[in-house]
Amino acid sequence: MIEKINNLLKEIESFQASKLEEVEQFRIKMLAKKGLITELFQDFKSVEADKKREVGAKLNELKIKASDKLNELAEKLSNSVSSKEFDDFDPTKPVDFSVIGSRHPISIVRNRIIRIFDKIGFVVSEGPEIEDDWHNFSALNFPEDHPARDMQDTFFIEKTPDIALRTHTSSVQVRVMEKSKPPIRTISPGRVFRNEAISARAHCIFHQVEGLYIDKNVSFADMKQTLLYFAREMFGDKTQIRLRPSFFPFTEPSAEMDVSCNICGGSGCNICKYSGWIEIMGCGMVDPNVLKSCDIDPEIYSGYAFGMGIERMTMNLFQINDLRMFFENDTRFIKQFGSVI
Ligand code: PHE
Repeated sequence: MIEKINNLLKEIESFQASKLEEVEQFRIKMLAKKGLITELFQDFKSVEADKKREVGAKLNELKIKASDKLNELAEKLSNSVSSKEFDDFDPTKPVDFSVIGSRHPISIVRNRIIRIFDKIGFVVSEGPEIEDDWHNFSALNFPEDHPARDMQDTFFIEKTPDIALRTHTSSVQVRVMEKSKPPIRTISPGRVFRNEAISARAHCIFHQVEGLYIDKNVSFADMKQTLLYFAREMFGDKTQIRLRPSFFPFTEPSAEMDVSCNICGGSGCNICKYSGWIEIMGCGMVDPNVLKSCDIDPEIYSGYAFGMGIERMTMNLFQINDLRMFFENDTRFIKQFGSVI
């Protein structure tokens, strides 16, 4: 028995392997259920009592040496690239583009809007999604009892002091006005939250781009021309716009802007509900109270602001009829936009 053990010890010491499979075969040969070392342990039962101590110690040593050697070889081989793998590696091969991802349609449209305004000098500004009452409402001239402050519209996080998820990115513009002096020309894209029932046309989370321009002598005509430029860049150079009177606490006068339907060109179809027009944004001249809240003198400066929902615009551009698809992240849907930039 001792002799057998010594022979195996020698075999283990001199064993070398160049592949992981060889190590595994050696493990099977030695330590598996029917392996040589396992068999010796079974034979141990018949060793005479006075030799058991010596043989037992030797056997344990053998087992430990075998598994140490196997672990050492396995570790060495798994860290090194096998020569076969290395031979197959061709650094001159072109990159495989087949698994490239695609941008989400909301990001595509957001980036287009940013690019259009970038060309006429609007810079992007960002702000927090969790806002206080001042930046989301009070500085924007919302009266204390305005329904938009109501629990039904706003997701409140704390009631005293009022901390909520922003309901629009106008809050970012308040932050910009507080920090900088006019001229200000900025757009703020971002995610906003309103407590609305989820349907094909509405969601409690959506995306906006809001714009703000403040300088000396800014007029309603400047706003109209800027928005016409935007509409034509976005929907094509034949696009018409129309402004309908509206109301927002932070602008006076306020308007709602429609663009001629980009699908039927204004003659009427089911996308524009046979009206020929599609509503895309709210806009108006910044209310003097808002300028005052941000320490800007309304006697010297004036400005305009506008805000649009990205989801609505994306639905028009790509003729998507259910807004919920933007949030489901079904890759079959998103993949369709792989070639759009
Ligand atoms: N903040 C408005 C909204 O969320 C949009 C808007 C911005 C309207 C600026 C007018 C001027 O609906």
